[in-house]
Amino acid sequence: MANIILLGPPGAGKGTQAKRLVEERAMVQLSTGDMLREAKTSGTEMGRRVAEVMARGELVTDEIVIGLIAEKLASPAAGGFIFDGFPRTLTQADALGALLARTGQGLDAVIEMQVDDAALVARITGRYTCGSCGEVYHDQTRPSKVEGTCDVCGGHNMQRRADDNADALKTRLMEYYKKTSPLIGYYYAKGQLSSVDGLAEMDAVAAAVAKVLDKA
Ligand code: AP5
Repeated sequence: MANIILLGPPGAGKGTQAKRLVEERAMVQLSTGDMLREAKTSGTEMGRRVAEVMARGELVTDEIVIGLIAEKLASPAAGGFIFDGFPRTLTQADALGALLARTGQGLDAVIEMQVDDAALVARITGRYTCGSCGEVYHDQTRPSKVEGTCDVCGGHNMQRRADDNADALKTRLMEYYKKTSPLIGYYYAKGQLSSVDGLAEMDAVAAAVAKVLDKA
């Protein structure tokens, strides 16, 4: 069992690799992006505010996301947790450390997925997701076998995210470099950081991630 963070800019492949680890290693994916998208549909005032912030590509407040993660960490996951898109600020990183310590758990590895900006733009603008089961596709690199039909659940509910456009992506990248990239140094200094080439093919990235996990 290992608790890991997948760290990287928008489109680095965090969600794609997290889903493989859930299938292959029975780990539990904790994606704050997915949790916030769920909160958006709640019809509450908080959900409405979150939707506006996310559509602009800005970060939601530390308080909200730390609260979401705290609820999930109450009991350990047998296969370990994958933190996908969290932490994203130094405050969140400190909070995660404290939450894990309080619940008698640890952090085994932080995997930085390195991808250059040009590739990120292509990945984000080509992405679509099955609205029924969450499977992630891409127009060029991973299209569904039958257009409009999910390979996994057979659903016909393909969707594109509201923040997957050029303007929001510019802000998301700025937020990443300003607020999230300092975490690379933070975890390096703790001896917990490993980096993988996120530009490689999905299977090659998965193999590199597996190598880090097997050593953790
Ligand atoms: P979130 O949902 O976390 O989005 P993100 O970090 O911007 O990351 P993405 O989901 O866009 O990309 P990914 O790295 O998972 O890539 P994927 O695997 O899909 O956050 C959204 C928003 O929520 C934030 O902007 C913020 O507002 C808010 N938020 C979330 N967490 C927060 C926090 N902790 N604090 C504050 N606010 C928070 O892959 C992308 C595409 O590339 C896919 O089409 C895929 O098929 C393709 N692809 C993947 N890997 C490869 C590969 N190796 N080769 C070729 N194509 C590939």
